[in-house]
Amino acid sequence: MNSDATQPRRVVVTEFGENPVEAVERFLKIEPIAVPVPSALAPGEVLIRIRSAAVSWVDMLMASGQYQHMATPPYTPGIEYSGEVQATGPGVDPARCRAGDAVLVDFMKAGPRSYGDYRHAGGFATHAVVPFEALRPIPAGLSFDQAANLLGAYETAWHCLIARGQLQAGETVLIHGASGVTGLAAVQVAKLLGATVIATGRSDEKLAVVREQGADHVVNLRGDDGGVRCFRDEVKALSGGEGVDVVYDTVGGETSLESLRCMAFGARFLIVGWVSTPDVARGKGQRGAPNANQLPTNIVQMKGLSVLGCPAVITAHRDPQMRERRVAQVLDWAAAGRIRPLVSRAFALDDAKQALLARWNGDIVGGCVLHP
Ligand SMILES: NC(=O)c1ccc[n+]([C@@H]2O[C@H](COP(=O)([O-])OP(=O)(O)OC[C@H]3O[C@@H](n4cnc5c(N)ncnc54)[C@H](OP(=O)(O)O)[C@@H]3O)[C@@H](O)[C@H]2O)c1
Repeated sequence: MNSDATQPRRVVVTEFGENPVEAVERFLKIEPIAVPVPSALAPGEVLIRIRSAAVSWVDMLMASGQYQHMATPPYTPGIEYSGEVQATGPGVDPARCRAGDAVLVDFMKAGPRSYGDYRHAGGFATHAVVPFEALRPIPAGLSFDQAANLLGAYETAWHCLIARGQLQAGETVLIHGASGVTGLAAVQVAKLLGATVIATGRSDEKLAVVREQGADHVVNLRGDDGGVRCFRDEVKALSGGEGVDVVYDTVGGETSLESLRCMAFGARFLIVGWVSTPDVARGKGQRGAPNANQLPTNIVQMKGLSVLGCPAVITAHRDPQMRERRVAQVLDWAAAGRIRPLVSRAFALDDAKQALLARWNGDIVGGCVLHP
């Protein structure tokens, strides 16, 4: 992706791929953009100079049309981002928003994960024009990189662990994919709630970081054949022999099945995602779920388990007031220093392809960003 790094520009997904890797290899381009002059901004609009854009798993899924929310190619990826206000349009109250302010962009109100008129305003670009309502001041103490990795991850952790999982102090939670963005957020939130955290992953190196981030125990699930090894006995032993009270599952597949075997009677299984089986839907936006994950009803029944779907964004669309409470809680925690997104890698905008592939290949701990 060669371009003039001094010029305003954006990344574009020109068409959906069959799978995320094909989408990135073949259909990711970079192109110049015309930055609007301030006088061209419509009422309520704000021009942002983007400083940091999160590189996420969902950006990858979306590029092949395998994510539940479809962008319309050509579109600019970059679901979450942060930056500086460069100019404001008519009607934007200068007491609330002015040039130079450090802001994060609410991914449900602008960018490819939103609906409406500002879906095109993705974060993989030097500039974006977004509505004032999409902006939030960056909580004190957070960098642009951390701000770009805040809402999606911690709202998901809040939604899954608190709204759905009802996780209580003193309980034990098993967190899969703990080195990922949503996994690490869940580790921090579970600790904040007073739970004991057993975190899993496939790399000792990454798990050492997860431990530094607060996990009480870490378990490497990688078997000798590269697949998932039997972890039931180890997790049961770590949870007093009874099994865990809650499972936060971002991984799916074999990991989900083995998890059911180390849950306590009456425990809650939180479906967060399925990174080990990403191709449940057809590529190129053809929808359907021919390869859907399956759980054994016999184990669910005999252990009296609660299996809970936890879609954070879909639920927020159905219950906007709940979302306001959720966002307020995440921003308060961040401002008080009680949660801190970990961002471990940064790439230039022109290296978006490498950044997305690094995310897809699991080469990242926590957040990864582009610096446009
Ligand atoms: N419920 C919701 O509302 C919601 C919201 C956001 C995201 N999600 C979903 O949550 C999942 C995780 O998202 P994320 O943003 O946290 O992703 P991420 O940052 O890329 O992290 C995923 C983690 O999973 C592990 N992993 C990757 N491939 C794996 C495989 N084949 N088998 C086992 N583990 C693997 C990796 O850790 P190791 O290499 O250490 O194993 C990686 O750190 C995705 O499915 C996403 O769609 C759901």
